[in-house]
Amino acid sequence: MVCLGNICRSPIAEGLLQQKADDNGMDITVDSCGTGGWHAGETPDPRSMSKMVEKGYDISHQRSRKIRDADFTEFDRIYCMDESNLADVKSIAKAHNAEEKVDLILNTQTYGSDFEVPDPYYGAADGFELVFNMLDQATNKIIDELKK
Ligand code: 4NP
Repeated sequence: MVCLGNICRSPIAEGLLQQKADDNGMDITVDSCGTGGWHAGETPDPRSMSKMVEKGYDISHQRSRKIRDADFTEFDRIYCMDESNLADVKSIAKAHNAEEKVDLILNTQTYGSDFEVPDPYYGAADGFELVFNMLDQATNKIIDELKK
């Protein structure tokens, strides 16, 4: 799960997918990172943590990190939150011949539509509710497809 700072959107996506995979007895590893490293080592944004607590998830153990080369070999799928993240990740993926692993996360939901998960960092608190709902649905879809 990749966003810009790895403190708002991708930590929510990681928390949701890992918990749902665990609940379904699926042995998969979920991680998240940012295309930027400004927040490396930090916990998720307090607004993401409290939104997740409100919905029954704990992501306080997560720590922000920047994307690294090993991600392109260690992970089978790389989900980006918006077009800017996608362009950045694809340019790195090229060097690893891993472009086919990379897509927008909402394309799991509505194939080929290229919808984005908006960055809630500078916005109002209800942006986190929107992000949660988008990622809740997207991760349900990922779980359904993994089951198949
Ligand atoms: P995220 O949100 O990409 O969803 O984690 C952001 C977090 C921090 C910044 C930008 C977006 N920032 O500029 O520090």
